[in-house]
Amino acid sequence: MPELTICGGGNAAHVLAALAAHAGWETHLFAPFGDEARRLRAGAAADEGITVHFAGGLEVTGRPQRISADPAAVIPGSKLVLLALPAFAHQSTLVAVAPYLNPEAAIGALPARGGFDYQTRTLLAPHGHAGPIFGLQTLPWACRVTAYGRAVAVLGVKAVVAAAVTAQTGQAKAEVQAALWPTLHALLGVPLQPLTSFLALTLANMGQIVHPGAMFGMCQGQEERTFAADEIPLFYQGIDAFTADILQAMSDEVRTIAVALAEQIPQFDASEVPSLQHWLLEAYPLDIEDGSSLRRALATNGAYRGLRLPVRPAGGGLYQIDFNARYLTEDVPFGLVVARGIAELASVATPALDRIIQWAQDRTGRQYLVDGALAGADWRRSRAPQAYGIHDVRALAAWEWGGSASAQPAARDGAASTATPQVPGD
Ligand code: NAI
Repeated sequence: MPELTICGGGNAAHVLAALAAHAGWETHLFAPFGDEARRLRAGAAADEGITVHFAGGLEVTGRPQRISADPAAVIPGSKLVLLALPAFAHQSTLVAVAPYLNPEAAIGALPARGGFDYQTRTLLAPHGHAGPIFGLQTLPWACRVTAYGRAVAVLGVKAVVAAAVTAQTGQAKAEVQAALWPTLHALLGVPLQPLTSFLALTLANMGQIVHPGAMFGMCQGQEERTFAADEIPLFYQGIDAFTADILQAMSDEVRTIAVALAEQIPQFDASEVPSLQHWLLEAYPLDIEDGSSLRRALATNGAYRGLRLPVRPAGGGLYQIDFNARYLTEDVPFGLVVARGIAELASVATPALDRIIQWAQDRTGRQYLVDGALAGADWRRSRAPQAYGIHDVRALAAWEWGGSASAQPAARDGAASTATPQVPGD
């Protein structure tokens, strides 16, 4: 049986562990966070393993073989390593697994969020890793653990999930894709839509728009507000016209970045970066009751029903807005700031993205933008391409397409770029 390791101990890791073990993979879990490994071992030993309860009644049970907080115990034999984690946990996970990773292993994240390929290749290359690096645009499922280590509920399954892979030196990308996508399709049970570049996957990260954008729309001007339990606003069903306009403006700017890149990089396909509304209708064709506008598509998406604004207890039975929630701490540094960095390389102005980043960084005590430039104290901790030595469109293209890339400098600023691509590993 081929070996596979899932990194993480949360909702997504539970689903993956059960599906993989059920499908016949020798399945391991790398769970170094807190005492998750111990709790997972205890839970999975109690029953036949972990059971996934799909909405509609289907149940799938699978038992992982090894569960450890020690990467040496689970990583070395694995042909496939899956990061089922928030993006802020990618770095520590990659650093931990790198010394034990089979050089040919395929490693990927679901979801990848923005700039996953920059970070992963940079961290793994010094350890001799030359296998495929891949990412999914989102998690295929809406899922919640119902009994830790034992059971997880899948509330909804996306109709299709975009994915991208980087084939490293010496690998033919077509061969990598021919092997990888069917394997993942069989494992996940969800059709994948292969994109031609990681750059498109990074820009097509819809979480970066919808999570910080809706937080801003709902919370700006009333950041200190508290709520009784039954007053906590619905995150999607409650979306108002102002918030929908913000989301539309953000989506339009990301599309503009994609179109500008396609003008400068012939290999880049801007059609792989859809608008937010278009993506919603493709991902949730059966869940959305009214897709006639972005606002209605969000508000009538059954898969989002009941999800509320992230809050934390404020005492006295009240709740305050949780600005440390993943909607800002994951989707800004590993989403919006990455897109903003790419916009800078493509010479595209992004006033809506800037406004949201500025607001979010003030809420989270981080600093990415200063006077409209990526110059704040924390931007290097984001996954903006500039943090990986990519300082112009040629370097951006060379990262993805290697020596065959032929980028035109941006016509908008009129300045031809003469910088040598600074691409680790190229
Ligand atoms: P989760 O919150 O259930 O699990 C997160 C896991 O990540 C933890 O159990 C732990 O193993 C690890 N982790 C968290 N913080 C860490 C840290 N600081 N250092 C090291 N490890 C840490 O998350 P879930 O629900 O499994 O989501 C995983 C990813 O999928 C996230 O990016 C999330 O935004 C995304 N996603 C989740 C959906 C869902 O329905 N659960 C739907 C769509 C996307």
